[in-house]
Amino acid sequence: MEVFVRRLPKVELHLHIEGALEPELMFEMAERNGIPLPYETVEDARKAYQFEDLQSFLDIYYQGANVLVTERDFFDLTWAYLLRCKADNVIHTEIFFDPQTHTVRGIDFDTVINGIYHALRQGEKELGITSKLILCFLRHLSEEEAFETLSQAEPHLNRIVGVGLDSSEIGHPPAKFQRVFAKAMSMGLKTVAHAGEEGPANNIWDALSLLNVSRVDHGVQCTQDPILVAELAKTRMPLTVCPLSNVKLRVFDTMEDHNILTLLDKGLCVTVNSDDPAFFGGYMTDNFLALTHALSPSKHQLVQLTKNAIEASFISDEEARQLNAQLDDFWQNHGDGH
Ligand code: ADE
Ligand code: ZN
Repeated sequence: MEVFVRRLPKVELHLHIEGALEPELMFEMAERNGIPLPYETVEDARKAYQFEDLQSFLDIYYQGANVLVTERDFFDLTWAYLLRCKADNVIHTEIFFDPQTHTVRGIDFDTVINGIYHALRQGEKELGITSKLILCFLRHLSEEEAFETLSQAEPHLNRIVGVGLDSSEIGHPPAKFQRVFAKAMSMGLKTVAHAGEEGPANNIWDALSLLNVSRVDHGVQCTQDPILVAELAKTRMPLTVCPLSNVKLRVFDTMEDHNILTLLDKGLCVTVNSDDPAFFGGYMTDNFLALTHALSPSKHQLVQLTKNAIEASFISDEEARQLNAQLDDFWQNHGDGH
């Protein structure tokens, strides 16, 4: 089963690029940019990555992002992530970036997006990994600041597929961003939002009705509301679920308690994702392996998780057909008959 999981073609739809900053690279950038770190060594940093909840993680995550200064830093960060994708057989990835984490420190929006975008293009050319970019608004900041960020993105609209909403869910419900999401949609952007990670099922309803999302990020709290679960199944509304993240941030006590397979069996379009892999103990293969060890999915279920991600992705029908062909090919060679 382990070989099957490693070789399985994967599609990632929920990855914060700042959350892929490994401590080794963080130290390298801190050194070259002259930024102080609150850790003596890489090991000290890893030891500090113990979280009680989302907020205790976010404090450390924003602190780490302070070392990102130049276009080269954003390029190197994204390139390092893409190399991990290659090793994990990730064939397509749709990544988030948090421009406000950087613009509040005086880093230009253009510096951030240029570095990330050039690495993504090189990843397509040299590694064969296709990708999309999603701009996330930080929900603990104001509506006005979100509008300001959207206007900074305007010259780069051809590089961005959509907008998302991340950071502290509790106390910052979807309604706060209804107008800026409507503006983004009028500019041709798709919308997604973190909802029902730590917050209530009602945030998922609001993300659907007020923000018109095409996917819900996390969404695992939907089980609080059986009517919502039925609606998500009926509409095949995708949930980008992040198993290791949910255990690290204590959304579930253990991986054995995770509800991803229960939701899959109810017909929901659930997908597997790594969220912030440098902080949560692993990339795509690690997430698939952790859920495989804890929940014993069938090979068919594992393939369905990638099928769902292709269905949920923002690629064209023709691109989806090509990814599905790769998956079918894999199933012919490694499926139940083997
Ligand atoms: N930003 C980075 N990771 C996040 C998560 N899991 N939830 C909300 N905001 C985030
Ligand atoms: Zn996330």
